[in-house]
Amino acid sequence: MHSETPWLGGVSSDELRRIVDALYRVHRFLAAITDLDTLLERVMEENKAVASAEACSLLLYDPQRNDLYFHVALGERGDQQALKRQIRLKLGQGIGGLAAEKRQSINVEDVRSFESWYRTADDLTQFDTKSLLAVPLEDHGTLIGVLELVNKQGGGAFTEADLRIMEIFATMVSTAIVNARLIEKNMRAERLAAIGEAVAGLSHYAKNILTGMSGTVDLIDQGLRAGNIEMLQRMWPLYRRNSFRLSTLVEDMLAFSKPREPVRTRCDVQQLIRDAVETFEELLIQKKVELVVDTSQAQGYVSIDPNGIHRCLLNLLSNAADAVPKEGGKVWVIARILPDETLQIEVADNGPGVPEELRERILEPFFSTKGSQGTGLGLAVTSKIIREHGGTLNIEKSQTGGALFRIVLPPEVHKPVKEVL
Ligand SMILES: Nc1ncnc2c1ncn2[C@@H]1O[C@H](COP(=O)(O)OP(=O)(O)O)[C@@H](O)[C@H]1O
Ligand SMILES: [Mg+2]
Repeated sequence: MHSETPWLGGVSSDELRRIVDALYRVHRFLAAITDLDTLLERVMEENKAVASAEACSLLLYDPQRNDLYFHVALGERGDQQALKRQIRLKLGQGIGGLAAEKRQSINVEDVRSFESWYRTADDLTQFDTKSLLAVPLEDHGTLIGVLELVNKQGGGAFTEADLRIMEIFATMVSTAIVNARLIEKNMRAERLAAIGEAVAGLSHYAKNILTGMSGTVDLIDQGLRAGNIEMLQRMWPLYRRNSFRLSTLVEDMLAFSKPREPVRTRCDVQQLIRDAVETFEELLIQKKVELVVDTSQAQGYVSIDPNGIHRCLLNLLSNAADAVPKEGGKVWVIARILPDETLQIEVADNGPGVPEELRERILEPFFSTKGSQGTGLGLAVTSKIIREHGGTLNIEKSQTGGALFRIVLPPEVHKPVKEVL
């Protein structure tokens, strides 16, 4: 029967089915596999199988150095890793380099008779190359790399059909590489933009604090020169407050910056709450906020990271202090160890509460409704620390309709050591 496609003329129907199946699988990989390296390995496996090759490699073009390097090398023998580490081909060097330079597929039955044969790769990998098929990878005229098939199984040259199939595969591989690079580039641009935005927000916040500090420093100077103790007494708490805000900012940035394993020690729960509340008491008194602390049901010891949990409590208290009304503000801190030994710490307030639609977003880093008065780091850091402990942070409504944040640490994550009284 006469074939419309001459290069398929000698292909048996079994072979044709194998080819179509392989193409079909590669198409599916392209749609399903998002990791480029995995995708390329799978496609190369298919290449190797469909053309009955002993080995198969993918060389990528490095435009900066104007040469090719091995990205994937699949073979049954030899040190393929050495290829990847050590060999780079100049354009025109070896059969792969020549295919890249000429932008043409090259099919060689016996490499030894080919004058451009580059034998260093064989010396390095102890591979005995006989036949080789090299197909350039291009995207809109731009060189991407070269596909290489080595040694047709059973001897002889790769067939015309092998060459055409590889050219189809090469088009798909080029598109996949170009797409993955574009996605990576966009992601990098987005990340950079997000970092820029975050840095701008944090700098603005820090600058506000520093402006406040330098104002109080000037007044403290004047007070010192005039021996005006009253002025010093008024200014000093302001200075302390700003320095506390600055250290909070730095601590939050550090806590946020990388994953951390909690450094657990045996802690007295009541003492832990007392420490956090004491740090905040002065500010709450200044703001005339009523503070109710109940730790009567939290007698006992837990194994947690005291610095981490202290940081969480300071952030929750600071948010509660920001949220309460100017008059009649009220904040509750309630800790309890439940009968099943779960530790719960609640920080609640009588502010406006967190709207339902914002409950997830407020945990995102840099999300703040406080403009230059907020960093949006507090809750991101708090939920991160709690997560790293293996606990959860719940957001609910307080009894007055304000916000209630509940830290829940189940017994298996704080491994309580029962106090023997
Ligand atoms: N107690 C609260 N009551 C109402 N809204 C809150 C409360 N705590 C946090 N929020 C909301 O969550 C946002 C993020 O909080 P946070 O991460 O601590 O950042 P920041 O306090 O710097 O704004 C706040 O801007 C606010 O909108
Ligand atoms: Mg906050």
